[in-house]
Amino acid sequence: MNLYLFLSVAVIFCFPTEDLVKDYAKFNIPYTGQWFSGYLRINDDGSKQFHYFMFPQQNKNLTDESPVILWLNGGPGCSSLYGALNENGPFVFNLGTNDLRVNSYSWTNTAHMFYLESPATVGFSYGDEHTSDASSAKDNLQAVIQFFNKFPELSTHQFYISGESYAGTYIPLLANEIIEYNKIATKRINLIGLMIGNGCTDYTECTIEAKRFPIHKFEFMHSHHLISEKLWEEIDAQRDNCFNSTAQYCKDLYAKTQEEINLNYEFYYNPYNIYGKCYQMPITKFNGETIQRSKMTLDPFDRQPGTVPSCSEAQGLFYYFTNPEFLKAINIDTSKLTKEWEDCSSTIKYTKDPRATYYLYPKLIKTGLKILKFSGDVDGVVPITGTFFWLNNLQNEIGLHTIEPWRSWTIPGNKSGEDQNAGNVWILDGLWFVTIRNAGHMVPMDQPMAALIMINNFIYDIPLPN
Ligand SMILES: *[C@@H]1O[C@H](CO)[C@@H](O)[C@H](O)[C@H]1NC(C)=O
Ligand SMILES: *[C@@H]1O[C@H](CO)[C@@H](O)[C@H](O)[C@H]1NC(C)=O
Ligand SMILES: *[C@@H]1O[C@H](CO)[C@@H](O)[C@H](O)[C@H]1NC(C)=O
Repeated sequence: MNLYLFLSVAVIFCFPTEDLVKDYAKFNIPYTGQWFSGYLRINDDGSKQFHYFMFPQQNKNLTDESPVILWLNGGPGCSSLYGALNENGPFVFNLGTNDLRVNSYSWTNTAHMFYLESPATVGFSYGDEHTSDASSAKDNLQAVIQFFNKFPELSTHQFYISGESYAGTYIPLLANEIIEYNKIATKRINLIGLMIGNGCTDYTECTIEAKRFPIHKFEFMHSHHLISEKLWEEIDAQRDNCFNSTAQYCKDLYAKTQEEINLNYEFYYNPYNIYGKCYQMPITKFNGETIQRSKMTLDPFDRQPGTVPSCSEAQGLFYYFTNPEFLKAINIDTSKLTKEWEDCSSTIKYTKDPRATYYLYPKLIKTGLKILKFSGDVDGVVPITGTFFWLNNLQNEIGLHTIEPWRSWTIPGNKSGEDQNAGNVWILDGLWFVTIRNAGHMVPMDQPMAALIMINNFIYDIPLPN
């Protein structure tokens, strides 16, 4: 590995020159800091490699003690570059366009950000296309080890793993791998905490079994008056019978829900943010070709292969990631790839564990990891109703006591007297649960200031402002 020395703040780092992104200014990117993009080797022969982005911490007020945060998007099959360029990276797209702007609420204000495209075949990552919860946990561990080999000076910093949605499965599994690895490793991974937004956790949330009758989604639709009282009563009466059932009357109730919220399966409902705008336009690639959107269903993964999920904010991503010049600049060797970049793979071959990851929480909490669970409260994909369901179960099951009861928290306004309600917080012994008011599935995209304050305060053990 070539090591390259440079001066940042007043600290000398060793960083991998081969992954440095050079001359990116010509792509209209409003950023002047360092940017690394390259590959992490997952197996010995190099046939499986995961692509990553890394942006160093940018707040000159901080010493170089600042933590490293890994960010993972979900799916399974969605690229974490979505998070980098739409949610919490230093520059993000103006929604629905190809134009990038500075993100004042970038998480690089408080940490070094590491975005990983995982599992194999997602985004620019490649390798054996057959993946699972178990295999991606092992592969992600390798990716983390290789990351700290590339950035050795960061390996002593605090390490947090964050993400949203199906990353609610990846993250606890990766944490568990790291805990086991640290028992035998000569170079420990300094894992301190987890930060998981609208995350799949319980077997009643994102498993194949739960998909047949997603009771927490139905309950969320009902509590937001998107379905009729009559339909809800019928659903509620069948909640146990219909779990994992293929019975026709269960299918009928599902179809009726879909119809009531989104007549004719049209585009006019955005499950990622039920009050948000749905992007419906076909995607235009760099060469002018277009990709159609799928019509929007209750479950955004029910879509035709080769289409882009409707409502997802993906135009700018497809534009940049189909530009051959840009791919060269970010060190992508397209000869290794079998397909073009997609925001969420429509062909992924992934096996889910029907247990989900709820069962890991007692161990993770006992190990002393800091855990932040957060929930955008207008998300219809992994809604807050499901999170409450398993949090209550967990609290009862392992006797987690409440350190601080449910209360509201605030974000500052532009003037004194203009502070705004940001959601609620409930602190258990070993776990923070934070809601973000008026945020959907992608919390840092919808409420960037609240998201940054939340993670910053969690990391530095500062109570959320009230
Ligand atoms: C750095 O510190 C100064 C003085 O305390 C403050 O005004 C400024 O907002 C800080 N900058 C950042 C990026 O935190
Ligand atoms: C779900 O249903 C399938 C049959 O469709 C069955 O094979 C499987 O065991 C069920 N899973 C659970 C967790 O009940
Ligand atoms: C502060 O002002 C800006 C610009 O007018 C506005 O976009 C933002 O929402 C305001 N912040 C709060 C917390 O009201």
